[in-house]
Amino acid sequence: MQNLLKSVRVIGDPVLRKKSRPLVFPEDILYIRTLIAGMVKALDTAEGLGLAAPQVGESVRLFIAAPDHLEELNGHVVFINPEIHPYGEMEKREEGCLSVPGIYEVLSRPAQSTIKAQDVRGNYFSLDLDGLAARLIQHEVDHLDGVLFVDKLSPIKKKLLKGRLKRLKEEG
Ligand code: NI
Repeated sequence: MQNLLKSVRVIGDPVLRKKSRPLVFPEDILYIRTLIAGMVKALDTAEGLGLAAPQVGESVRLFIAAPDHLEELNGHVVFINPEIHPYGEMEKREEGCLSVPGIYEVLSRPAQSTIKAQDVRGNYFSLDLDGLAARLIQHEVDHLDGVLFVDKLSPIKKKLLKGRLKRLKEEG
């Protein structure tokens, strides 16, 4: 984990495309604590809304949310082994990602979502979310499955972004 704080991984890095492994309690607790400490610093530096473990090179099912969302997320910052069920009408919102720097696009996603996850102690909790929080958790869980938000854009938008994405992949 020595490279954790160096930078957030950018599209083109294979770790962003892997399906992450579930974390195990209590075996992984020390690893989880170290990982979270590094991720909190990385998210704070990058000023993002959320950060998934693969974005710092660790292919495990964990993400954190920026403290700005504390109220919506009922005080939860760390989500381990999350399971989500998006539902409701499709809603358009602009989205961006620290791993796809400089690109912001409007994307449709279900407006609501439930999430069940474990906290740092391994205790389960559930939330029923809407608005930005529902969008954030869908975006972060996608990361754990190797999916980036640009994958979900329409074919036309993808085509328009092709050159910029190619440059990001080459520059890393
Ligand atoms: Ni992202």
